[in-house]
Amino acid sequence: MRQDHLITATQLSRDDIEAVLDRARAVADDPAAYADRHAGRVLALCFFEPSTRTRMSFDSAAKRLGMNTIDMGDVDSSSVSKGESLSDTVRVIEGYADALVLRHPSEGAATLAGERVDVPVVNAGDGAGQHPSQTLLDLHTIREDHGLDDLTIGIMGDLKYGRTVHSLAAALTEFDANQHFISPESLRLPRSVRFDLHETGAQIREHEELDPIIDELDVLYVTRIQKERFPDENEYHRVAGEYRIDAETLDAAADDLTVMHPLPRVDEIAPDVDDTDHARYFEQAHNGIPVRMALLDTLLENANPDGDEGTEVDR
Ligand code: CP
Repeated sequence: MRQDHLITATQLSRDDIEAVLDRARAVADDPAAYADRHAGRVLALCFFEPSTRTRMSFDSAAKRLGMNTIDMGDVDSSSVSKGESLSDTVRVIEGYADALVLRHPSEGAATLAGERVDVPVVNAGDGAGQHPSQTLLDLHTIREDHGLDDLTIGIMGDLKYGRTVHSLAAALTEFDANQHFISPESLRLPRSVRFDLHETGAQIREHEELDPIIDELDVLYVTRIQKERFPDENEYHRVAGEYRIDAETLDAAADDLTVMHPLPRVDEIAPDVDDTDHARYFEQAHNGIPVRMALLDTLLENANPDGDEGTEVDR
């Protein structure tokens, strides 16, 4: 992968994805070989929205590469609360770090950050836009179970606001996956995402019910209804709880169906699924470590082709 930043899954070719996932496998097999790889370098964590997995797994991944991390902290305790622009904020933080991970409620925020700074930027979620590092760990999880070729996947829940869905669907076009999208009419994929998928020649079908197709699936990717993105809370309550699976739902599924979820879940996967052989969502979250180590390693390698040392202290 020869990229400066990771902003959107659409920038990733099949070769890019396989290179990062191969490196993630190597990291998982021999983490000690990567332990001091980026000693002296600093990763900045800039989260303008809540996060558990993405923030902590990037923090952990960086430290396992020998890096230090600095965290902007809550928006309320940073100078963003004084009205500082995103552009100024990232231009300042670029001077403190060798790479920057950004989560922001506005679509396009990471694109803007990537245009403003020279250090690698990873989009850790921009509103209802994209979440490409999540996609890499999703693909790693799928690849471990099924490989990435001849895949039939069902993606269910909030397809309108779910940024993990938008990124995953785009990346899966690189592997010619059969993609089934299951949602209420009001939470269908945005027109622009559907258009982009069709433009690639992707094989996609949309459904309102899971039952008729569950037996065809290799993977069922369940998502949370993104309450925080609904302009009208009544509309959220109209659809909340409609797309819930439990162990009985999976009786009709193939024995090797993999059930995934980017987490956090609310009630869309019942706890009794956790005890089935289908559940893979906790391993999926744990895969954030080797995959984000591999991603940081790749981006820092691209940014420092001569193996330069980390952050300059005198600039
Ligand atoms: N999957 C994911 O992005 O989780 P967090 O919101 O906890 O980072």
